[in-house]
Amino acid sequence: MMDDLIAKKSPFIGEKIILRAIERDDIDSIMEYWNTYETRVGKGKFIPESRKQREEWIEKTTKDAKQGKGFTFAIIEKLSDQFLGACSLKRINAVNRGAFLSISIYNPENHDKGYGTEAVKCLLRIGFDILNLHRIELHVYEFLESAIHVYEKLGFKKTGVRREASFIAGEYRNDLIMDILETEYNKK
Ligand SMILES: CC(C)(COP(=O)(O)OP(=O)(O)OC[C@H]1O[C@@H](n2cnc3c(N)ncnc32)[C@H](O)[C@@H]1OP(=O)(O)O)[C@@H](O)C(=O)NCCC(=O)NCCS
Repeated sequence: MMDDLIAKKSPFIGEKIILRAIERDDIDSIMEYWNTYETRVGKGKFIPESRKQREEWIEKTTKDAKQGKGFTFAIIEKLSDQFLGACSLKRINAVNRGAFLSISIYNPENHDKGYGTEAVKCLLRIGFDILNLHRIELHVYEFLESAIHVYEKLGFKKTGVRREASFIAGEYRNDLIMDILETEYNKK
């Protein structure tokens, strides 16, 4: 049936997760783990953030989506409907057809369960098959080994090092630049 075919091909549906728009009502779920240090540090947000700051972030993502500047999605576990985190393709450049990818699974207890891999896979399909991007870039701290593993597994290449670009917990750390081109993206 045609409906089944469309559902199977949706880049917003993985095996265990779906991606959907972020809603104002997600704020309680976001605040539950957003201020977990481990989660925030991976995102480069060292200072705890208030509910109001996160609400303003939701408003901004809505505005960016309306203007086509970037798209942010909630990552939802299919079976339980649980809010797991957020991911985005942002800073979309219409001339270069480039964008930046970011992702965070908020509760550290939900790391290493395959959710991140599935969400990035979906974002690549959205980026290359829906938004017709040419290149997707991301920046990741060199010490986030599991994140780097996920990105490399899905075809990103390490293309640069921003040496000692980040001051974290008293030490300067390197940031890696990673990217993937549409020609390198494995559509299977
Ligand atoms: C980075 C993040 C999105 C990854 O999502 P996740 O759901 O934990 O990732 P997955 O479970 O899909 O995959 C983790 C992979 O890392 C591997 N891994 C775990 N620890 C590792 C380590 N120390 N070194 C290398 N690989 C490691 C796992 O084996 C798994 O790979 P595999 O599927 O090939 O076996 C998630 O950990 C997260 O949100 N972290 C906090 C925020 C953050 O750091 N965001 C990234 C900013 S760029």
